[in-house]
Amino acid sequence: MTTSSKKPLVAITGASSGIGAATALRFARGGFRLALMARRMDKLALLQKELKTETAIYELDVRSEETVGATFQLIEKQNGPIDLLINNAGCGLGLDPAFESKLEEWDLMVQTNINGLLYCTRAALPPMVARNQGHIINLGSVAGTYPYPGGNVYGATKAFVHQFTLNLRADLIGKNVRVSCIEPGLVSGTEFSVVRFRGDQEKAAKPYEKIQPLHPEDIAEVIYFCHALPPHVNINTVEIMPVAQASGPFAFHRAT
Ligand SMILES: NC(=O)c1ccc[n+]([C@@H]2O[C@H](COP(=O)([O-])OP(=O)(O)OC[C@H]3O[C@@H](n4cnc5c(N)ncnc54)[C@H](OP(=O)(O)O)[C@@H]3O)[C@@H](O)[C@H]2O)c1
Repeated sequence: MTTSSKKPLVAITGASSGIGAATALRFARGGFRLALMARRMDKLALLQKELKTETAIYELDVRSEETVGATFQLIEKQNGPIDLLINNAGCGLGLDPAFESKLEEWDLMVQTNINGLLYCTRAALPPMVARNQGHIINLGSVAGTYPYPGGNVYGATKAFVHQFTLNLRADLIGKNVRVSCIEPGLVSGTEFSVVRFRGDQEKAAKPYEKIQPLHPEDIAEVIYFCHALPPHVNINTVEIMPVAQASGPFAFHRAT
């Protein structure tokens, strides 16, 4: 176990790109130590070189319960207890109506956004409760609150993340463990859209056309703020949209 540093340890899933990478950079600037996880070690290694703080990197597919358990044990063994877990790994796949969606993509979203987040939370939470100290920040989405065509399972997974966050707080009453859900709207500069449109760059660029979207750094700043507040303050949820985004009216199909 590393005992040289007493700086708090922040563990981030999905740190190889987008919001996760920007959040790593923000916490590095704040002087925190980092444990970064993702499937693509090459990307993590590049980020690690850029970060001017003590950083350990771990290959992790959050969909594997066994690997998640072993990885969290290894992180704590090598770095000491996790002070803040940021459950950021996630994906949206496809934007097809439910009656045309691919079942395997629905499965992948459920396995990553729900099961993966559950496995990481279950691995990190008992040591936090034992130490009576800790914070878990989950990445939800406005898609968990506002329905939109094609958002079927992605939005439903993020609604799960929202409610799970609030239910965790209910279980943690009396413990000094904070839980927060950060729910962004449209964020550019991540791989989210490229993944959603299965590598089709043209389709992936469309949602951001002629719009000033949020940037990953904006979300990183909000995450940092939530954690930097005094330990008696728990931000339950934060919903963030770019000024150029708002929820729409009800849709009516009128008979002709
Ligand atoms: N971009 C937006 O507009 C937006 C809006 C609201 C919420 N969000 C949420 O914000 C989070 C980050 O998204 P982003 O926009 O930054 O997208 P991104 O650039 O695609 O980042 C997603 C991250 O998750 C990791 N990941 C995906 N599947 C994984 C798995 N099975 N195991 C481990 N890691 C996995 C990816 O790393 P590897 O591929 O290397 O594993 C990547 O680092 C997601 O939860 C997303 O739902 C995004």
